[in-house]
Amino acid sequence: MLILAIILLQMEIQGPGFTLRGWNLDDAESLQKHADNTNITDFLLDRFPSPYTMDDAINWIKLMQHQDPMLTFSIAVDGKLCGAIGLELRNDIYRKAPLIGYWLGEEYWGRGIMPEAVKLVTRYAFDHLDVVRLQAGILSNNPRSMRVLEKAGFTMEGILKSSIIKKGMILDEHIYAFVKQQF
Ligand SMILES: CC(C)(COP(=O)(O)OP(=O)(O)OC[C@H]1O[C@@H](n2cnc3c(N)ncnc32)[C@H](O)[C@@H]1OP(=O)(O)O)[C@@H](O)C(=O)NCCC(=O)NCCS
Repeated sequence: MLILAIILLQMEIQGPGFTLRGWNLDDAESLQKHADNTNITDFLLDRFPSPYTMDDAINWIKLMQHQDPMLTFSIAVDGKLCGAIGLELRNDIYRKAPLIGYWLGEEYWGRGIMPEAVKLVTRYAFDHLDVVRLQAGILSNNPRSMRVLEKAGFTMEGILKSSIIKKGMILDEHIYAFVKQQF
């Protein structure tokens, strides 16, 4: 059991042209540089800091270094951190259906990185965690992210009307999911 935990904590997953890996403090500068971008934060939860400072980067990396099991990966291209993708476990009756979320540094957009990363994390979740479904909630003004999920094989299940307020705008949430039987 201990050995499995150590393997999961050190896990690296190779994708086409990128690696999903753990977090280390040498990444703080890259993390701060890429995450401090409203073209990214405008589509994330308000708990994601904006502006994104070096302190935010260092605190996040320290937190991520204590994950057990590994749920949130950094995305690296040529060894440099350029984004993140992760699962958020939920409690109670939702405990078998975690949420998935992600962001990528703007200079890396349009290369097909995130759909491949979503596919790899989906497989990782079903292989290593006791879950049967992954779910994502996308702001209605984010068709780029909807496309990512479609390319990764997720299904659009419904729209929660006016369920979000982001930057003072009331938006719909588009619910996408991948259920284990789809494998
Ligand atoms: C969403 C995000 C992860 C995309 O990652 P990526 O690796 O660039 O994804 P892709 O390379 O597959 O490109 C996006 C796809 O969306 C399409 N797209 C781009 N703008 C679009 C638009 N306005 N409407 C519809 N599709 C659009 C692209 O054409 C591409 O699809 P294609 O390959 O079929 O042509 C990245 O833009 C990002 O980090 N955005 C900010 C944070 C965010 O939105 N996170 C998700 C929160 S739910």
